[in-house]
Amino acid sequence: MAASKGTLPAVSLQVGERSIELATIRASQGNHGIVVAPLMKETGLVALDTGYLNTAPCTSEITFIDGDAGILRYRGYPIEQLAEKSTFLEVAMLLIKGELPSAHDLEAFETRIDKHMYLSDDFRQIFSVMPRRAHPMATLGAAINMMAGFYPESLDPLDPSAVSLATVLLLAKMPTIISYIYRRAQGNALLYPKHGQSYIENFARMTFQLPGERFEAPEAFYRALDTLLILHADHEQNCSTSSVRMIGSAQANLYMSVSGGVSALSGPLHGGANESVLNMLQYIRDTDIEPKKFMEKVKDRSSNIRLMGFGHRVYKSYDPRAAIVKEQADAVLAALGVKDELLDIAHEVEQVALSDDYFIERRLYPNVDFYTGIIYRAMGFPASMFTPLFALGRLPGWIAQWREMIRDPAAKIGRPRQIYVGHPEREYVPLDQRP
Ligand code: CMC
Repeated sequence: MAASKGTLPAVSLQVGERSIELATIRASQGNHGIVVAPLMKETGLVALDTGYLNTAPCTSEITFIDGDAGILRYRGYPIEQLAEKSTFLEVAMLLIKGELPSAHDLEAFETRIDKHMYLSDDFRQIFSVMPRRAHPMATLGAAINMMAGFYPESLDPLDPSAVSLATVLLLAKMPTIISYIYRRAQGNALLYPKHGQSYIENFARMTFQLPGERFEAPEAFYRALDTLLILHADHEQNCSTSSVRMIGSAQANLYMSVSGGVSALSGPLHGGANESVLNMLQYIRDTDIEPKKFMEKVKDRSSNIRLMGFGHRVYKSYDPRAAIVKEQADAVLAALGVKDELLDIAHEVEQVALSDDYFIERRLYPNVDFYTGIIYRAMGFPASMFTPLFALGRLPGWIAQWREMIRDPAAKIGRPRQIYVGHPEREYVPLDQRP
């Protein structure tokens, strides 16, 4: 399924008197590309593209997004079908291996994951040295980095069996790590994974089971959690995934690369938005501000307030993930017997925004983060755990993209150029002669 070069007309670029030809590359779907690699060598010029609005650092076979039509597909399969029919571990295999697994292969993979969910007592110690009030994303990034120290046999990025082991260890241990981060913050003892429980059941039990009690939740709880993870599983070259690829391009191991993805994801403009949405809805409730009045603040540039959970670099129509989450929110809350006024506020804010010229002109719609927090909250997660949940969901995507990059013969260490706009050369001025 590789993109074919030269099947589109080349592009000529006029630089002063000189004209150079740049090859083009055909996408199987979506934007075709211009190969600008010879630009600097041929012309001495570099391309300035702040925020990479037009820059494709790679070709990829993993995820396709059509932002105008609101389409998201993993390996060709529509997100709506995967969310309805698949499971998170099956989607992880699809993203990482490229095809839906056979029943036998899926079972073998699940068994392998199940076997590795356990964290050694030495590893468990690291949660006790992190302050209880540390943000969960800080601890998560640190714990994933530590995995490089605990599993040295899985570090070599060029050894397929080491990469396969690192893939399984990350997917298996991440739910355990996230549940431990939560329990440590709560002051509760860390529990062990149980063989025979599913991935999601183990995660929920290790997170929520109280001392001396059994943890039980309705089927809708597990299904919704699984679906939310599927919805987050990949999103092509977003900020955290690009960070993972960039770090991996130096042949840093998979753990170090994924830990960098966790850092990028923590930002409020990226994965941290789900936590910010909930804080925003709580602010609207607690201050009793009318959603219309709140929107005036958002539109006032001097306020520096954004409508969190709205807008997206790629989607210029309704984010298909947000549509699925919105549809699920009412049903999940009903199944869990939760009534949350924040959901009503969210519906109202969405209505106001979607009929406001500011949002219409800029094509700003709810993104995946707008409704997810309300479901997580109904499940019992505090807002600070929302972004780690996003990270758990995004993990298969980071791994799949890193592996694609490592195997790509065209891949090079990521090393962008710059356009220097600082001082020309000047003489050092001794301290006693400076004004
Ligand atoms: N509230 C108010 N104005 C907005 C918003 C928003 N949420 N998003 C964009 N705008 C305005 C922005 O001020 C700009 O206006 P103008 O043209 O007058 O300068 C215009 O829309 C274009 O925005 P931009 O910042 O140039 O767009 P971008 O593609 O660089 O940023 C974004 C995309 C997601 C960072 C941005 O929409 C945003 O900050 N949204 C809120 C944070 C959020 O919900 N992030 C989660 C993204 S989805 C999950 C994920 O993938 O991580």
